[in-house]
Amino acid sequence: MKAIASIEDLRAGAKRRLPRMFFDFVDGAAYSETTCRKNRSDLDAILLNQTICVDVSGRNTETTLLGERLKLPIVLAPTGLSGMLWPNGEIAAARAAAEARIPYCLSTMSCCSMEQLAAAAPKPFWFQLYMLKDRGFVRALVERAQNAGCRVLVLTADVPALGQRHRDVRNGLTVPLRFTARTVLDIASRPMWALQALRAGPRTFGNLIDKAGGGSAGSIAEWINKQFDDTMGWQDVEWLRSIWRGKLVVKGVLNAKDAEQARNSGADGIVVSNHGGRQLDGARSSISVLDSVVQKVGSDLEVIVDSGFRSGQDVLRALALGARACMLGRAFLYGLACNGQAGVARAIEIIRGELVTTMALCGVRNIAEIDGRVLAPMTHDSNARMQA
Ligand SMILES: Cc1cc2nc3c(=O)[nH]c(=O)nc-3n(C[C@H](O)[C@H](O)[C@H](O)COP(=O)(O)O)c2cc1C
Repeated sequence: MKAIASIEDLRAGAKRRLPRMFFDFVDGAAYSETTCRKNRSDLDAILLNQTICVDVSGRNTETTLLGERLKLPIVLAPTGLSGMLWPNGEIAAARAAAEARIPYCLSTMSCCSMEQLAAAAPKPFWFQLYMLKDRGFVRALVERAQNAGCRVLVLTADVPALGQRHRDVRNGLTVPLRFTARTVLDIASRPMWALQALRAGPRTFGNLIDKAGGGSAGSIAEWINKQFDDTMGWQDVEWLRSIWRGKLVVKGVLNAKDAEQARNSGADGIVVSNHGGRQLDGARSSISVLDSVVQKVGSDLEVIVDSGFRSGQDVLRALALGARACMLGRAFLYGLACNGQAGVARAIEIIRGELVTTMALCGVRNIAEIDGRVLAPMTHDSNARMQA
């Protein structure tokens, strides 16, 4: 792990360690993957303003988010099936997050259940919810999250239908699973992963197992695929607000109008997100809409952003455009796939180190000081043009 210098190194390690079908599951995106690439290219296009002769000693990355004190303005994003990358992957990631004093958000589609995580993780975690057609089950999930001690509920609202990931179709990672000779060869070519997976035993969707009658992961996946609700509206967000006692965050906002609707429906925060390019291919990058969303609701809602964030420089860019924190998806999953909890810790540490150094080079000492002045003026103008 010492030779790992960047998130890109962790990605390369994940590619070496995981069977192709699971690497592609993490790395891939919807359809032509255009939005996924745009997330990166738009972040790269934002240049920073080098500033000299400022006392930047004693730099501090602490901040508050939705009432929690964090060591870093980072949240580990909800990601389904993380337990396929490493045994008890969700627990490993939650422990790394707790050590780094940042929140971990458990997905509805996790392998480990929220009760298992609550028993194993040292601090409260966030829970991500999909609005399933079976509202009775949604209510039960909300109650379970409350009982598991979750203080923040993240409603993912950008999945009225599932965006197709071509890589998953080609690799047979579909519902139902398509096992071919190629799949078997793929798994056999990664003996370390295969051995570890064999020892860990069969994995399933821990939060959903009761509902789907305790069936196999395959039958639960079939059930859940039919449960994504394409009738969901803002009245459902209001209903959720009425039954959830903690902070409510709506994830998947990509324009100012939806941000306003989220606020009017009772959300405490939003995640500006295109699901890492895994849903609407052709959508704008999250970073390109962030400024306009913050202008509209930034004084009423806590704005988090994700999709494409791979470095401390990226985090600084988002904070400069008004985000309170960034969610990391693939950045921590690559680390998890490489080396479990230690790999996630390494991913967080890489981004922390980059952020602290970049703050120094831009002449800022703490998170509150980060604003539009850390962006190179030309970039700021061209970014404003992107919004117009
Ligand atoms: C493998 C994988 C699984 C994901 N599963 C979920 C999920 O279950 N629920 C959800 O709201 N978002 C899910 N996401 C989206 C992430 O929460 C996040 O929005 C996205 O990963 C951010 O982009 P990034 O990966 O470029 O950081 C998933 C993303 C990945 C890569």
